[in-house]
Amino acid sequence: MRPTLRVLVVEDSPSDVEQIILALRGSGIDVFWKCVATAEGLRTALTNGPWDIVTSAYFMSGFGGLAALDIVRAIDPDLPFFIVSETVGEDAAVAMMRAGGNDYIRKHEIARLAPAIEREVRAAENRRAKRVAEKTANHLAAIVESSDDAILSKSLDGVIASWNSAAERLYGWTATEAIGQNVSLLVPADKVDELKQNLEQLRNGEQVGYLETVRLHRDGRRIDVALTISQVRDRDGRLIGVSKSARDIRDRKRVEKALQVSEGRYRAFFESTTAGLVEVSTEGQILQANTAFCQMLGYSRHEIQGMPVINLLFPEDREDAVSQYAGLSKRGSFESDRRYCRRDGTPLLARVSAVAVPDAAGRPSLVSVVVMDLTAHRAAEESLRTSEERFRAFMNYTPATAFIKDESGRFLYVNPTWRRQFDPEPIEWQGKTDCDFWPPQTAALFRASDIECLARNTIIVSEETARTAAGEELTWMIMKFPLVDGGCRCVGGMAWNITDRKRAEDTLRLQDRAIQATTQGILISDSSAPDNLIVYASPGYERLTGFSAAETLGRNCRFLQGKDTDSATVAQLREAIRAGESCSVELLNYRKDGHPFWNELTISPLRDAVGRLTHYVGVLADVTARRNLQEQLRQVQKLEAIGQLAGGIAHDFNNLLTIINGYSELLLQRLTPNDPSRAMVVEIQKAGERSAGLTRQLLAFSRQQVLTPQVIDLNDVVTNTDKMLRRLIGADVQLTMTLDPELWAVRADSGQIEQVLMNLAVNARDAMPRGGRLTIETRNVKLDETYARTHIDARAGSHTLLSVTDTGSGMSAEVKARIFEPFFTTKDIGKGTGLGLATVHGIVKQSGGHVVAYSEVGVGTTFKVYLPRVDQPFGMKSHSKILVPPRGTETVLIVEDEDGVRALARQVLLSNGYTVLEASNGYDAVRMASSHEGPIHLLITDVVMPGASGQVVAEQIMQQHPEVRVLFVSGYTDDAVIRHGVLHEGVSFLQKPFSPIDLALKVRGVLDAPKENGRC
Ligand SMILES: Cc1cc2nc3c(=O)[nH]c(=O)nc-3n(C[C@H](O)[C@H](O)[C@H](O)COP(=O)(O)O)c2cc1C
Repeated sequence: MRPTLRVLVVEDSPSDVEQIILALRGSGIDVFWKCVATAEGLRTALTNGPWDIVTSAYFMSGFGGLAALDIVRAIDPDLPFFIVSETVGEDAAVAMMRAGGNDYIRKHEIARLAPAIEREVRAAENRRAKRVAEKTANHLAAIVESSDDAILSKSLDGVIASWNSAAERLYGWTATEAIGQNVSLLVPADKVDELKQNLEQLRNGEQVGYLETVRLHRDGRRIDVALTISQVRDRDGRLIGVSKSARDIRDRKRVEKALQVSEGRYRAFFESTTAGLVEVSTEGQILQANTAFCQMLGYSRHEIQGMPVINLLFPEDREDAVSQYAGLSKRGSFESDRRYCRRDGTPLLARVSAVAVPDAAGRPSLVSVVVMDLTAHRAAEESLRTSEERFRAFMNYTPATAFIKDESGRFLYVNPTWRRQFDPEPIEWQGKTDCDFWPPQTAALFRASDIECLARNTIIVSEETARTAAGEELTWMIMKFPLVDGGCRCVGGMAWNITDRKRAEDTLRLQDRAIQATTQGILISDSSAPDNLIVYASPGYERLTGFSAAETLGRNCRFLQGKDTDSATVAQLREAIRAGESCSVELLNYRKDGHPFWNELTISPLRDAVGRLTHYVGVLADVTARRNLQEQLRQVQKLEAIGQLAGGIAHDFNNLLTIINGYSELLLQRLTPNDPSRAMVVEIQKAGERSAGLTRQLLAFSRQQVLTPQVIDLNDVVTNTDKMLRRLIGADVQLTMTLDPELWAVRADSGQIEQVLMNLAVNARDAMPRGGRLTIETRNVKLDETYARTHIDARAGSHTLLSVTDTGSGMSAEVKARIFEPFFTTKDIGKGTGLGLATVHGIVKQSGGHVVAYSEVGVGTTFKVYLPRVDQPFGMKSHSKILVPPRGTETVLIVEDEDGVRALARQVLLSNGYTVLEASNGYDAVRMASSHEGPIHLLITDVVMPGASGQVVAEQIMQQHPEVRVLFVSGYTDDAVIRHGVLHEGVSFLQKPFSPIDLALKVRGVLDAPKENGRC
């Protein structure tokens, strides 16, 4: 059936309207019509449409067909418009068609109206449909173009046919570049198969739909994309291609990943937390519970799921719980302690925190419950309480004082010990500072260390003195440490009274310093270990032996012993150690450099409190110097004793020899040359003279010969003896002299020093039987105190040194020790008297010097003679001797206790013309002098006599006879006489034994000498 045709008739003639309607109806068209006759009416009717066609008269009063057409076209360009008119001229018809009218029907052709209308209605529908289709196509293109998704189409073999702007943005290719290319351009190698498969599916007519995959950007980047793939079919439904919309899902992927992570974290937390976590539905059923919750109550997850949460509670607690859950919708959350009932029926005390979780619309969706097992918490509380009590007890009973101060130095806590020590009054200490207890200086010190402790956030240990409340000044070891108390930074501290320990330490330190300083070495050995290994060696020991402590510790110190260590002494030590006793010995030890030294060693056992031997302490002292001095002293004393003996004998001998030699000389003077007794007297005289020579040497050794000391230059003596020495030593020995031209002067008897030189030269020659070199040297030296200390007969000060060195056989230590003893000789019998070096020793000693010998076997020997320097000008040189006995007429008083000697002297003097008075002792002599009226020109007196000494006699007689000159005679010189100045330079002295000629010469010499100071 045809649909009703809606016709809008623009006509002012109702009959024309009727004609039109009738015509249409007459053609079998069901018509709905409306007639308007004005522009306004037309507009309104059009707006209220819809109409399938508009017919209009061409002419109307006040309106016209063309105007109506304008109105219709303005509102609906496709609505068919017909002019139905009585007459329409050609030009009007053209104008109407131009203005968009569809047809014109003259009234007489009205029968054409129905088919024309049907035709135009159809055409209009087509136009309308086309217009809609175009519009839609344009719209769709705009949609595609402005889409955020990349939209492209391709043929079934993958060639790109369309490409929107979003595709350009997503893949980086412009439409021009992309269209015509194969879509594989966008597919990474690992997705090529997927692409092929998709195309295959599509070609087979299968749908692919949605796909998340990866595509390539022009720059090679991989892009996560979501593809929506659709088949493209033509109007006939044939598959002609594929369209794809691609969306960049990188952000979504990131979000998904983040969500996954967050979900994972939540899951991990949910499962790993020790708190029980439960999700409960609004109806009170358990939706899910974590492992911790299941374990807490002893249920499996499966069992617990879906259970009403209330069922897990103790019946008594349920009512309360129900009301709390009910109130959740209003209050949002609650927290309370609950008793749960474990699966095995035992109770579990827990703290429950429940929060209502709303859904997106804000309606309660579930309840999240956190369940904390309070059993451990309660146990921890209990343990905390116990620990707190323990802390209190500890702090109450500890001997250490303890305190806590806040950052500003105010006490927050002090323990009872602290109070007892510093604040015994029951007053409030809290809030006080150090200033309240100690003097400002001490308080400032304490405060400074508090600040340092906090600033450096470290433990500070210090020693301080602080006076207790009892007024006792004690030393404290204070340890301060930073701590946090109640959220505040504080200083905690403990202090121990270390006064006693400190004193003990001070004493120990003092002892240690003493041990360090002492020259003795100290060793401590561990007696509990085998072989008494050394566990301590003092610095003194290191200095003494040259061994370091490190080299010594852990060893037995027998390594100090060596080849000459006396084994008996070592045995003594061993025995003492075995018996656990102390022992003192002197034994030869060796330093690290091999030098021997005498060790005065005392070892003593150390015992512990129960008397067990634990250690030995050894004190070592180097007594080498003392031993050497002792040895030297022994030597000196020996020589002294021998000297006294020899001197005494020589003295007595000299008296006898004076007589023997004197009378034999007188006898020879009387005997004629042919007298048969003459030869015998000559022999007696020779023997006497040899004996006199011996006694002279003995006296020289015993330092009892008379010297005539002068201030001399040793170089002169050496030079004077040069010829003699060369003769003495022979041609095989080369003599070298090194003489210091600036040599200091010495006071000595030059004749005796010559003797010294000769004796040393003879000694040297005998030591070099196959020749060698003899070196004589003079030099100025200063002997220091150390030298003087180690050489018993040496004195510190300036000396001239005369040294005589040979390159001979040298001497052993034993020989060297005895060389100055008289009659000690290493020479063959008859070769030497053994008095040569003894004489040297005596002369040097008597001259105030000392002599030492240095010798090494096979290398040679050096004798060093040291004579003290004098600051006086050199004296007169000796005069040549007068050989003819001179005569005289003066009066001579002889005082001599030895009758023989006196008689001889008298005889000699009388025979030479002198007047002789004689006395056998000093008293007689003085008496005789006082009674003698004439002058006494010369007094000859023995030095040592029983009763008054020669010195006293001389002084008394000089008072009575100021003119008298004095000649002392003696068999030996007495130190006392020398000390009293009698025998100073210029004093006349005649050594016994003297010969008659000696006496005569001496007497004449004394009488003729110029008188000085009233004395000769
Ligand atoms: C504490 C101590 C210190 C000793 N100091 C020395 C020492 O300075 N010189 C030395 O020759 N021996 C010293 N001795 C002795 C030796 O160690 C060792 O006891 C001694 O030679 C005897 O034992 P022996 O026969 O096993 O060597 C000391 C011993 C002790 C216990």
